[in-house]
Amino acid sequence: MTTSTKNSLALLGQTFSFTDDPFAVGVDRAVSFHSRGAVVIEDGRIIDVGPADGVRDKFPGIDIVDYGEHLIMSGFVDCHIHYPQSEIIGSYGEQLLEWLSKYTFPAEGKFTDESHARSVSRFFLDELLRNGTTTASVYCTVHPQSADVFFEEAESRDMCMAAGKVMMDCHAPANVLDTVQSSYDDSEALINKWHNKQRLKYVVSPRFALTSSPEQLEAAGALWKAYPGTLMQTHLSENLAEIARARELYPQEPDYLGIYEKYGLVGPGANFGHAIHLNPREIELFRSSGSGISHCPTSNMFIGSGLFDMSGLRETEPPVSVGMGTDIGGGSSFSMFQTMKSSYEICQLKGYSLHPVKAFYLATVGSAAVMGLDNKIGNLTAGHDADIIVIDLKSKPVIESRMRHAADLTEALFTQMILADDRAIKATYISGKLLYDKENN
Ligand code: GUN
Ligand code: ZN
Repeated sequence: MTTSTKNSLALLGQTFSFTDDPFAVGVDRAVSFHSRGAVVIEDGRIIDVGPADGVRDKFPGIDIVDYGEHLIMSGFVDCHIHYPQSEIIGSYGEQLLEWLSKYTFPAEGKFTDESHARSVSRFFLDELLRNGTTTASVYCTVHPQSADVFFEEAESRDMCMAAGKVMMDCHAPANVLDTVQSSYDDSEALINKWHNKQRLKYVVSPRFALTSSPEQLEAAGALWKAYPGTLMQTHLSENLAEIARARELYPQEPDYLGIYEKYGLVGPGANFGHAIHLNPREIELFRSSGSGISHCPTSNMFIGSGLFDMSGLRETEPPVSVGMGTDIGGGSSFSMFQTMKSSYEICQLKGYSLHPVKAFYLATVGSAAVMGLDNKIGNLTAGHDADIIVIDLKSKPVIESRMRHAADLTEALFTQMILADDRAIKATYISGKLLYDKENN
């Protein structure tokens, strides 16, 4: 018998978690589901997940919140997102390089102003919570204060957030450029201030090969090496014009990923956004190096970048580590449901049907693994941090109608990923504390 403390809480409902990788063992063997389940939280961690029957005997006097038929699962993990682009979501008419010049760089230039950075950080974190996203790998702007303010806001919510100041020293307007030295020094100061503070992680963030000189990529590689445990994020092979330009700027390297490889930016903890147009050498390097890919489907469709090859990378041996990102503001939705839907549609166009259990896996455990955090977050399992969401499986009439014909968990999950959005998130818990409750917002 376990005695309850005042920091313990049981959430009752339908519970859903992963016991293994569904791409490796098949969807049936990868899932644990209780139609009447309980998740027990103590001091911010999950300590037990199982049938609700008997939870009161096992944890006498424990506080209980009963969510009835709602689905309880891990919060979503978004492994690629730009908080400063929150305001330019849905900007019309351009593909990547023109979109960056016309919308992105002007929006990011405003982050010299700390009060702007603070108000956008607050909006962004609230929006994540409202969409059931509890952890993200976040690009700030080139300005160190954009990262400082973001970390302060994430810390005040006790969220597990990874973020970094963007490094970019060429081929962009002067107000969004740094230098080799300042990018190293500012990033290093941010690492010393924020990395591993509370639940925060630092991500060394050279934007991409087009806006970093060879010297800056070298500095980024040296910095990442000097601080083991920090993460690395950048963009790779999103758009054909981008790839052509990268090859022009770095003609001596074998391919786009080879540029990052040369400067020590490939390996476990390296997170490459997009990776749509890869050659066989690059794919083999992903397989052998343990680097991860952030698949950003709404962005790839919205900016017209191309169709990601999920089955080629994930249904093959050894599999490439892949997670799901919204890529706000290239992406068109903060919702992981909408992101999974877009991924499903891209896969359909490639002749592959992405199973809902696999999609939910990528949007939780897969993303956490790309960020090297899958031993702590991304799954509803004992020992993990209690970042938990409660999903109303009937959040609007069309879903309610479709759910009448949903025979099992798989169909219920598929219905959600095709039809649901932020309105399906009933509650979001961070470290066992209720930070978002739909009824009170
Ligand atoms: N490549 C370099 N920077 C960016 C960015 O901000 N968004 C997207 N989608 N691709 C990029
Ligand atoms: Zn991006």
